[in-house]
Amino acid sequence: MLKKVQKSKPLKGEITISADKSISHRAVMLASLAKGKSIIKNFSSGADCWSTLNIFKQLGVGVNIIDKKNIEITSDGKLQRSNIPLDAGNSGTTTRLISGILAGQSFDSEIIGDESLSKRPMKRIIIPLTQMGAKINSVDGHLPLTINGQKLHGIVYLSPIASAQVKSCILLAGLNAEGQTTVIEPAPSRNHTELMLKYLGADILIYKNEITLSPSNLTAKDIEITGDISSAAFFIVTGLIVPNSDFIIKNVGINPTRTGILDIVNRMGGGVNILNRCTVSGEECADIRVQYNDSLKGCIIEGNDIPRLIDELPVIAVLASQADGETIVKNAEDLRNKESDRIKCLVNELKKIGVDIQETADGFIISGRCKLKGNAELDCYHDHRLAMSFYVAGMLCDEPITINGFEWTNISFPEFEELMSSLE
Ligand code: S3P
Repeated sequence: MLKKVQKSKPLKGEITISADKSISHRAVMLASLAKGKSIIKNFSSGADCWSTLNIFKQLGVGVNIIDKKNIEITSDGKLQRSNIPLDAGNSGTTTRLISGILAGQSFDSEIIGDESLSKRPMKRIIIPLTQMGAKINSVDGHLPLTINGQKLHGIVYLSPIASAQVKSCILLAGLNAEGQTTVIEPAPSRNHTELMLKYLGADILIYKNEITLSPSNLTAKDIEITGDISSAAFFIVTGLIVPNSDFIIKNVGINPTRTGILDIVNRMGGGVNILNRCTVSGEECADIRVQYNDSLKGCIIEGNDIPRLIDELPVIAVLASQADGETIVKNAEDLRNKESDRIKCLVNELKKIGVDIQETADGFIISGRCKLKGNAELDCYHDHRLAMSFYVAGMLCDEPITINGFEWTNISFPEFEELMSSLE
């Protein structure tokens, strides 16, 4: 689908941001492993989360869709073999996290996915799961994965990468393994799995970058999902760069392992206001007021910043294009393993509208105060976050742009355009 985007007027008003994708996946998985009935409130409408939900239905879990946002899960805590392959669609989180769950079952499973997911690396989970006693066949570290269920044992795993998907995969395997499982990360990645395990009563110890889990039974409990800061990021950037904008984004999850974007906005000199802080099902949440800022400065984004804003880097590139001076993103080589090679594709496409951006091996460099000219067709390479980042850039361009493949926004944020239009 081709989407035309044109220069935006100032944005005003108030929106409520859609549910967090990472937390929605985990809610389905953990509610399915708990004995009893749980209601997931404010479930994501993104296709990725529905891939997870459909898989657990296939694994014998009771799924009652009360309405689009409220889902009742009923389980005896045990999963059943599926006769047909489990289709994770476009979702890396689904694939990597359920691999940990399925590796320790008493039955075999097969996981398949779409073209993009089939190119993404799975050795990062196959290696630790194999150390736990799992038997997994892949096509040279790629989907389809054939998982031959085994009795697993705990390990101490020193992860070479700060990845919440890897950490969560191992912890979910550890839930049903013999003995304790410890994961140590080089830098803290998002901790939603740990928080939800704790919320549902698991025996888990969290000490800095080191998480230790003992085999645990989970207690079914209602789980309310906060709004997704990764979706809010598109609005935060838009508000900062579209002249005279001033609006409120309600119900944004502000878990400190996800708020890298807020730190970067501060580092660039463009603070936002955090209002009405609260805690929802163990996760921190708030409303955010964003106002236009014409004196942003470039900065360096590296090291421990990266896992806390990995999904926001494409739209941060758009923000940096409007700041004074240079913005350098380093240590972000894992961006090349996302739904697209997010370094190469981002650089190719942003250059077409006049962004001064250079690709590096592990990131990119932007020289700011770019005049965005538009009058170009940008491809999103089947990548939802690129599609929405280009839309934000299009709102500043002098001439309209078109985005090819805009329907990919349905993967995480089907309400994106409607919410954006409601502010105009
Ligand atoms: C996610 C973790 C991140 C992120 C992805 C969602 C999760 O991936 O990029 O969109 O829900 O655990 P990595 O763990 O591979 O960094």
